[in-house]
Amino acid sequence: MKNLLIVANMPSANTATLANAVLRGANHKDLDGVETLLLAPLDAGPEHVLKADGIIIGTTENFAYMSGLIEDFFKRIYYPCLEEKQGMPCALYIREGTDGTGTRIAVEKIITGLAWKTINAPLILKGEYQSGFGSECKELGTMVAAGLEAGIF
Ligand SMILES: Cc1cc2nc3c(=O)[nH]c(=O)nc-3n(C[C@H](O)[C@H](O)[C@H](O)COP(=O)(O)O)c2cc1C
Repeated sequence: MKNLLIVANMPSANTATLANAVLRGANHKDLDGVETLLLAPLDAGPEHVLKADGIIIGTTENFAYMSGLIEDFFKRIYYPCLEEKQGMPCALYIREGTDGTGTRIAVEKIITGLAWKTINAPLILKGEYQSGFGSECKELGTMVAAGLEAGIF
């Protein structure tokens, strides 16, 4: 059994919907070899990351940067996980109003520092909220869980 961890910032109803859509996608009925845990950043720590075989990070963009809670998560897990988790598959989605560039660059720098393996071009959910965002997040969850189950990441 593989363990997939989703750490998602959920400051609004929309962002909670997105995170839960990722979880639903990962729990696809045809996938029985992956156990998925969704945690808010403050509830997630090194113990969860060390146990994970793959991770999906979901962040909002705030002040042209990742959310403060996701930054705090990275600060708490960085050194405790640095040696053991190199090569861990990682996917990213960003919910933003107008421009997610700062967030994308900042998260990618940290992921590079951690030597995690990036498995998608970040899913960017931009502008006014659209119902289709949920489907995109669900697909992301299924894609990552299926890849982990199949051992292709
Ligand atoms: C304090 C604050 C700062 C924000 N800064 C940015 C920003 O720099 N760039 C951006 O694209 N969106 C920014 N946003 C928009 C948020 O990313 C967006 O509100 C959040 O993803 C929640 O989306 P929702 O309205 O669909 O719930 C900001 C929001 C808040 C509350």
